[in-house]
Amino acid sequence: MKKQESIGIGLIGAGERGCYILGARIAELWKETGMAITGIYDINPQRSRDAKVFLENLYQKNGLDLTIQLFASYSDLIASGSVQIVMITTHTDQHRIPAVTALRSGKKVYLDKPIAVNLEDSAAILACERETGNSLIMGFTRRYEAAWRKSYALLKEGAIGALKMIQIRSIIPYTRYFQTWHRKSAWSGGALNDKSSHHFDVFSWFAESRCRSVSAAGGMSGIFPPDPQAPLRCSQCDRDCLYRRRLNPDDQQEGTQVLGYDSWIQADDERNRADTCVYQPGADIIDHAVCNLTFENGVKASLFWSIFGPHAADQETLELVGTIGRIYLTRSEGTVRLIQWGKAEETVFDLKGPEFFTSHYGADLQLIRDIRAFYDGSIPAAGTKDGHNSLNLVVQTLNSIASEGVPMHIQSWEM
Ligand SMILES: NC(=O)c1ccc[n+]([C@@H]2O[C@H](COP(=O)([O-])OP(=O)(O)OC[C@H]3O[C@@H](n4cnc5c(N)ncnc54)[C@H](O)[C@@H]3O)[C@@H](O)[C@H]2O)c1
Repeated sequence: MKKQESIGIGLIGAGERGCYILGARIAELWKETGMAITGIYDINPQRSRDAKVFLENLYQKNGLDLTIQLFASYSDLIASGSVQIVMITTHTDQHRIPAVTALRSGKKVYLDKPIAVNLEDSAAILACERETGNSLIMGFTRRYEAAWRKSYALLKEGAIGALKMIQIRSIIPYTRYFQTWHRKSAWSGGALNDKSSHHFDVFSWFAESRCRSVSAAGGMSGIFPPDPQAPLRCSQCDRDCLYRRRLNPDDQQEGTQVLGYDSWIQADDERNRADTCVYQPGADIIDHAVCNLTFENGVKASLFWSIFGPHAADQETLELVGTIGRIYLTRSEGTVRLIQWGKAEETVFDLKGPEFFTSHYGADLQLIRDIRAFYDGSIPAAGTKDGHNSLNLVVQTLNSIASEGVPMHIQSWEM
């Protein structure tokens, strides 16, 4: 068993994403990247303790004898000499303070998406970046996923000519957004922020232009009507229900690890519960939207999004239409089809390497490698400006929905 000097990552927010997804991927790649989680701070001490046991065991299995230090505050963790990279995976409304403190420390910073729940917070992170000259890398997973990178590369090579239209369909039964802390807009910015911050980021990434306007329709579908008689949580319920945690198709596919821990499944506090009944009153998030965007260079983009509907192989697709061809990506199949004028046969790229079957279709492993490259000085695939622009589009989409489709003109854009 090795005891080795590593590039220390300090984890702030040791939940599903920070510990059980990214923490696990970092442990799996430590021999390749030389990075390891050396410190943890979570506002909930039980989560810190559980994460320490989970990760130390994982490092042990991967041949590293590691003792992870638990910190009493985010600022102690950031100041610690054993931390070289600060990784922030707290609830979204809790991103700003650790992000700003970490940027000021001069250390490398990873911040998960969405950047924040409001533009004041994301503007403060942006201003801090400008003031300190330090920058951060953001976790927009599709930026690190093979099929999306391939689509972008094909576009840049001119395979479809000049880009004219982009469409994303995302019909994913992520009813967990009603069951976890995401159910309150004040904590998550809503399901549209949590899920479609990725999609809005993809639009900006591919369009490479300033967005001029957004118009949208959407709201609450009524599929999950608040029921004051509903049990508090799945574990107290014997109803026949499609959305029961652990048993619904998305939980089955993703194997959500936090459902094994008492701090989620026994928690009284709504923010900490992972299995609140989807019908419990109090959720204030929208669950579907259609949305049109116009970019300054003439590109038009459209989003067709819901968090209900059956689990299916084509639940998320990207389509790009250019002057001489089309690109069509099916996310859960890991395929990209290229259709070109004058070619009878389409070309199909199968991007399912061995890592495709790991979290986020392999994107998280690539993200860890990109964090290492960022530590060494590379420019990140996504940073604060991308986070801010994506949130701006989420906010303006919600404004347009609230005013029944009136187009919202985008006043500021970070290039
Ligand atoms: N990039 C992706 O694809 C992706 C996927 C999942 C989640 N996320 C993002 O990761 C973040 C965390 O989500 P999650 O699913 O892990 O949630 P989670 O509830 O499982 O974990 C969040 C943890 O943060 C802790 N926390 C909350 N406030 C804190 C604070 N002020 N200081 C320290 N710890 C605090 C909570 O106690 C909890 O343990 C969110 O911003 C979410 O949108 C990104």
